[in-house]
Amino acid sequence: MAPEVNLIPAPRRIEPTGGSGPFAGEVRTGVDPSLAPEGYRLTVTADGAEIVGGTEAGVFWGRQTLRQLLGLDAFRRAPIEREPVTVPYLIVEDAPRFGWRGFMLDVARHFLPKDDVLRYVDLLAAHKLNVLHLHLTDDQGWRIEIARYPRLTEVGAWRPRTRMGWGEPAMWDERPHGGFYTRDDLREIVAYAAGRHVTVVPEIDLPGHAQAAIAAYPELGNSDVVDTAALEVKTDWGFNRNVLAPTDAVLRFYEGVLEEVLEIFPGPFVHIGGDECFKDQWRASPTAQARIRDLGLKDEDGLQSWMIRHYDHWLTARGRRLIGWDEILEGGLAEGAAVMCWRWYTGGVAAAEAGHDVVMCPQQEVYLDHVQADGAEEPVPFGWVHTLEDVYRFEPIPPRLAGTPHAARVIGTQANLWTEVAEDRGRVDYQTFPRLVAFAEVAWSELPHPDERDFAGFERRMNAAHYARLDALGVAYRPPTGPRPWQRRPGVPGRMHDRPRRTWRTA
Ligand code: ACM
Repeated sequence: MAPEVNLIPAPRRIEPTGGSGPFAGEVRTGVDPSLAPEGYRLTVTADGAEIVGGTEAGVFWGRQTLRQLLGLDAFRRAPIEREPVTVPYLIVEDAPRFGWRGFMLDVARHFLPKDDVLRYVDLLAAHKLNVLHLHLTDDQGWRIEIARYPRLTEVGAWRPRTRMGWGEPAMWDERPHGGFYTRDDLREIVAYAAGRHVTVVPEIDLPGHAQAAIAAYPELGNSDVVDTAALEVKTDWGFNRNVLAPTDAVLRFYEGVLEEVLEIFPGPFVHIGGDECFKDQWRASPTAQARIRDLGLKDEDGLQSWMIRHYDHWLTARGRRLIGWDEILEGGLAEGAAVMCWRWYTGGVAAAEAGHDVVMCPQQEVYLDHVQADGAEEPVPFGWVHTLEDVYRFEPIPPRLAGTPHAARVIGTQANLWTEVAEDRGRVDYQTFPRLVAFAEVAWSELPHPDERDFAGFERRMNAAHYARLDALGVAYRPPTGPRPWQRRPGVPGRMHDRPRRTWRTA
């Protein structure tokens, strides 16, 4: 009997050509530019396999498909060759739905050691995801070494203690926490990812989410309204009013940071954050108010927009493109910038209709720090419940754009993992898997309308093959039956939101 084919993400076309047999071992590859750039055709016969890709990336994705046909040994670090592998003879023709198939890892709230990041590159590649967005800076930590500003990591990469969960009164892990990647560590991550056709997008968050930088260099903050010299790297979570000052000195400082970022990260996009910048300090600050007057701006939103435009021009002049969270639309956005939509579909629709490229990652659908099931056993449950099925039914193209020319502005989609409650690799695995697998199919495969998606079929492939692949890879995913005893976190409270209706139903 031919072995079952349980490919994830589902390819466009599978044509069995009759029979099966032991894998002959030989893999021939080639490039055929008439195929889609990341597309491929995989042919398995008694002689071995042939993979033809539109580019080398297509060949690589074809190899990932072949890997699934070759069985679990292909997911181990070394083969154990218990029995010869029987492969089905077939042709697979495939190409991705979206060019940007991303995963964001927040290494600022909790530092993830370099080896764990490299492992995530492998896990992304195995699922045909091709963008690793590293959230490198935030209030709670600065994780990228910048040679000209050593205090960013000497001071900004460390905090004396960390809030555990979201309960009141606050609970603390009294151990100091921190870490950072050297420039060479990051070059290594970039090179390792490039070898797997994964692009690393660095994020330097400004003008909000910057307290770690202000703790290192107090002159970056609004020192005319707060004692910025007294600020420390933030130890708890949530909204933060300590934001960067809108001064020329701050603009120059971050140009210096970005110059080094560009030396390390060769990809087209640089993420400058732009989210959740509270304007209270700018409203109170004589310096900020003078700036608004001098520039002839309407208000504080205009000031934020002016800062973002500054970096947009700066990056464009250096051959790169700015991407930021959807708040960067407020106050108007420069032409070439791209928008990462995290709040419902709203920002994505507005950005696409205004002619900007968009990556869809609404928190109502694909924030993987959000809890994945109802029930008291989930560790530190945060946010809305996004089940495996919810993620499988996520539709990246907002209904309002579907069938219009603006839909082409949606260049892709991304799942995001914030790490306030994911403090180490085990917690990161638990939050990320298996939901990232469902997300990978959403990003790669041509799935029908969310209501018509065959979730039962996806679950069948998970149960028949893919959980075993994750086991072979050593991923500490959430089992379908719920957390294992050591994956629970009794006594550490989370913070749940009321369950929203799915975005694609309400838009
Ligand atoms: C975000 O979740 N603040 C982008």
